Amino acid sequence: MCGIVALIGSREAAPQLLDGLRQLEYRGYDSAGIATVEGGRLHCLKAEGKLVNLSARYEQHGAPGQCGIGHTRWATHGKPEERNAHPHLDGSGELAVVQNGIIENHRTLRESLQAEGVTFLSDTDTEVIPHLIALELKARSDAGEAASANLLLAAVQAVLPQLHGAYALAVVWARCPGALVVARHQAPLLIGLGEGEFLCASDTPALAGFTRTILPMEDGEVALLTPLGIELYDSAGQRVQRTPTLLTGTEHVADKRSFRHFMLKEIHEQPETAALWVARHLPEGALVALPLDESVYTGVERIQILACGTSRHAAQVGAYLLEQLAGIPTSVFYASEFRYAPPPLTPHMLTIGVTQSGETADTLAALAMEQERRQSLEDPAYAPRLLGITNRPESSLGRLVGHLLDIGAGIEVGVAATKTFLGQLLAFYGLALAFAERRQGQDGPGASSGRSIAELQALASQLRQLPGLLQALVHDHDQRCAELAHLFADTQDVIFLGRGINYPIAMEGALKLKEISYIHAEGYPAGEMKHGPIALLDARVPVVSIAVPGTVFDKVLSNAQEAKARDAQLIGVAPACPDTTLFDVLLPLPETDELLSPLLTVIPMQLLSYHIAAHRGLDVDQPRNLAKSVTVE
Ligand code: AGP
Repeated sequence: MCGIVALIGSREAAPQLLDGLRQLEYRGYDSAGIATVEGGRLHCLKAEGKLVNLSARYEQHGAPGQCGIGHTRWATHGKPEERNAHPHLDGSGELAVVQNGIIENHRTLRESLQAEGVTFLSDTDTEVIPHLIALELKARSDAGEAASANLLLAAVQAVLPQLHGAYALAVVWARCPGALVVARHQAPLLIGLGEGEFLCASDTPALAGFTRTILPMEDGEVALLTPLGIELYDSAGQRVQRTPTLLTGTEHVADKRSFRHFMLKEIHEQPETAALWVARHLPEGALVALPLDESVYTGVERIQILACGTSRHAAQVGAYLLEQLAGIPTSVFYASEFRYAPPPLTPHMLTIGVTQSGETADTLAALAMEQERRQSLEDPAYAPRLLGITNRPESSLGRLVGHLLDIGAGIEVGVAATKTFLGQLLAFYGLALAFAERRQGQDGPGASSGRSIAELQALASQLRQLPGLLQALVHDHDQRCAELAHLFADTQDVIFLGRGINYPIAMEGALKLKEISYIHAEGYPAGEMKHGPIALLDARVPVVSIAVPGTVFDKVLSNAQEAKARDAQLIGVAPACPDTTLFDVLLPLPETDELLSPLLTVIPMQLLSYHIAAHRGLDVDQPRNLAKSVTVE
């Protein structure tokens, strides 16, 4: 995923562009660049690495002009080197383009441009775009058209149908300093309306400090921005009129407060995330109150959940709850796999897409495919019924699905998802309770699993206690995990074990550790270790064992014993356990219902990963090779 910004107005563009890029840096941070237009010239600055390098270049060289574009990159095509950084220019150096997405047919386009004598300076897919627009401009100029904003717009509109893939892009042209053209096709792009100026960006944090009035672009739309106004066109070239909307709340502004990293701040915000969820959806006197239409629930016989990474781990906990609490057969798929090997269609299916960003291309593509194949059957029993669970209701997911559950966790900047994971878990608790309530007394497929209303109510009232439990847990484990981190100074491999509802939490613990500390880690179902992976264990491989009283407690403790017998250093995430000598280190948990335990066991996972990475001096919020959400397949 990359971030793009573009500005046109009456003040120097570069400082605002850099400011916008700073807010978008979580989207990609291996190189950055800006291009501004003034005096019939393009002023382009690029730098490899973080944005500070680009800012230093700007301090040194400047970039004059009141119109410009900027980009922060997460490499897809071409290494993270300066020559592959955006903006990319045409051969004359007069036209510049930034793009977020992937141009899938770039090889074919590149070959035909090369056949016409065009020289490429980068390995990127994006570079075909300025060359194609330049050729279009030349053809039109040769036919007598004068340089103008409308000419630039027409050239971009003529080129877009040649591009296959998902993209958002912005274009400036030295010959027309008063015009900026932007386009969106399956990658996010929003226009912010200031006073006599317009700022476009991939995401709201870049806009929030500039304006609260925004116009999210729709797929296929192209906009011509001048200091005087916006002209919006659909993919057929027809003018579109749409009323801007208002960004509300403070959740769009990224602020680290006094924390060392955004990730730590976001871990500490989880009691608040839970408190907000409880206040909104678990009112006293009702079991659960979700803002969903009854048609989400009616007649559902099966559920399938599509997601990636951490969101998929939340989905796995969700599937456990939906099956155990509501008795609905539920499958979880990697969204990136689903699209290419979808299961046979079955009737009365609810499809849930889980994505905190609402922009993950794999998840969106899988959902869109499912929607299409169900629509094509024209059979009401197979009709698409799509529910999205997200932290960004204004995202592409929000526009794709018919029903949406907003987890309301506020902006999450750290690349490693923490509070949004908790929010997703809570959404699934709410959903499972809501289904279970509606299925009371039903027989046949999809019948209630037999949990009585009283049992469901007991769970709901324990959920209401969650914010307080989390507050204490985050506070205590922050200190404990900070003290433990030095034990992992030379560690190269860690195994996380869990069973039942805590198996996904073991996988989440391993993913967190991998992505921010670069330590190899595996999350494994504890009972499976003896079937192979136990061969990995020795005194150099710590094992984190999640052991919660309930259906598999004794089994997990035996599995932990097996690891200890192979000299593994054992870290227990457990309430005080019967065998006090079992664990070398205990990260204690309060007593809780096993079904609710993932909401607690995940906290030591997050804090352990955080402190190990911070202890190693790593860039916790922007780990190498990653981006906050991945908008390419
Ligand atoms: C989470 O820590 C990861 N950065 C990553 O696995 C993430 O969960 C995944 O890319 C899906 O993102 P989404 O929730 O925005 O769809």
